[in-house]
Amino acid sequence: MQYFDRHEGGEKAILVHLDIREMIDPDDLEEFRLLVHSAGANELAIITGARNRPHAKYFVGTGKAEEIAQAVDAHGADIVIFNHDLSPSQERNLEAMIKCRVLDRTGLILDIFAQRARTYEGKLQVELAQLSHLATRLVRGWTHLERQKGGIGLRGPGETQLETDRRLLQIRVNQLKTKLDKVKRTRNQGRAKRTKSDIPTVSLVGYTNAGKSTLFNRLADDNIYAADQLFATLDPTLRRVKWAGVGNVVLADTVGFVRHLPHELVESFHATLEETLQADLLLHIIDSSSPDMHEQIDAVNAVLDEIGATAPVLLVHNKIDKTDELPMIHYKEQGVPNRVYVSAHKNLGVDKLVQAVQELLVGGLFEFNLTLPYHAGQLKNTLHELGVVSHSEFDDTGHEIVTICLAKDRLKELLGKYHLNPFDVLPLHQASEFLPELEAFERV
Ligand code: GTP
Repeated sequence: MQYFDRHEGGEKAILVHLDIREMIDPDDLEEFRLLVHSAGANELAIITGARNRPHAKYFVGTGKAEEIAQAVDAHGADIVIFNHDLSPSQERNLEAMIKCRVLDRTGLILDIFAQRARTYEGKLQVELAQLSHLATRLVRGWTHLERQKGGIGLRGPGETQLETDRRLLQIRVNQLKTKLDKVKRTRNQGRAKRTKSDIPTVSLVGYTNAGKSTLFNRLADDNIYAADQLFATLDPTLRRVKWAGVGNVVLADTVGFVRHLPHELVESFHATLEETLQADLLLHIIDSSSPDMHEQIDAVNAVLDEIGATAPVLLVHNKIDKTDELPMIHYKEQGVPNRVYVSAHKNLGVDKLVQAVQELLVGGLFEFNLTLPYHAGQLKNTLHELGVVSHSEFDDTGHEIVTICLAKDRLKELLGKYHLNPFDVLPLHQASEFLPELEAFERV
């Protein structure tokens, strides 16, 4: 339940989409219809047109506004949805003229987010975004209430109804911000724990409807909600998975990105996207079959830039069952994977994706037999946590010998971290490779 919910009913919709010549990056009509569908509305008719620039009073011209009013009448619509952002006064003027509720693109996206938010944090974030959107529109429909509250005993500081509403809204906004801060603090603690445990995090990011949740399910072998609607996922969903050659990984699904995301949402969803900042690797999932593929890639990159994500990115071209591309890994010059072609739905190339993640995350793997001294308990725990131990046995002296599969650099790092001498834990021929450069030089 949203606190200030102004939507009621409103399933039968007339859609309005104009080509505005002054707009450099016009909103896409097909995506708009998908958004409307995602919100659960039925498209009765779509009204299109073109203008050089928006009309100040109605956004559309007066003639077009009349056409919309007639369509509302003829179809018995109960909502008109614009694929554009309207100013509060344009929305008000249109409602007065058309005699029907009007929703703009931001309102539409907020509505979808409100329906989809599943976790506590997601719900708080959406409500906060809705309230900031509402704050600028509060005057509408409330003006008739804007009068002095009168009566004996009620004559106080002379607050109007509108001021009361604004004040209540502000109180609610502050409450929400406090709650969100708390959730965020708790989450940071969880994250700190994970960082300490050395388990790498792989985050799935991508344009909405690209197939993140479907791929997440494949990779995590789990069943979280996936639907042919936009924004089926709102909160990062975390799973701990174990892949051959990679070991344990925390996999994070994130909210879908969209072009022209309402700025209220960009801001309030930073916390959600911050998960991606902590990642060791980002999988940028792309809908290869979308005609807007390149714009969508740019939109995702712009948001990643905005939030300051620095982790390496692997581009994952999904839905190749619709494009006839082949499942494969595409390498940059130095043998570094930079693109993978998969179909999450048809389970094509998912093994290649795991291989590419392995190559990026751990590099070349080697088998080592480590003899663990008694004081190496922490290293032993970490190796088990990383999921890289394939065998373990005790020798005659009671020492444990573990067989592990790990990248050389990673093992070197861990031995350094736990102050272990390579010669104490590794056979001689392997230990010599782990000497720091200087020592090796002195030995020559
Ligand atoms: P948001 O939650 O909106 O960000 O979406 P998402 O990126 O998580 O997409 P989701 O996994 O919900 O998939 C969207 C739609 O694409 C669903 O109908 C999936 O069945 C479909 N889909 C996902 N992967 C593939 C694929 O490889 N091929 C085809 N043909 N469809 C796919």
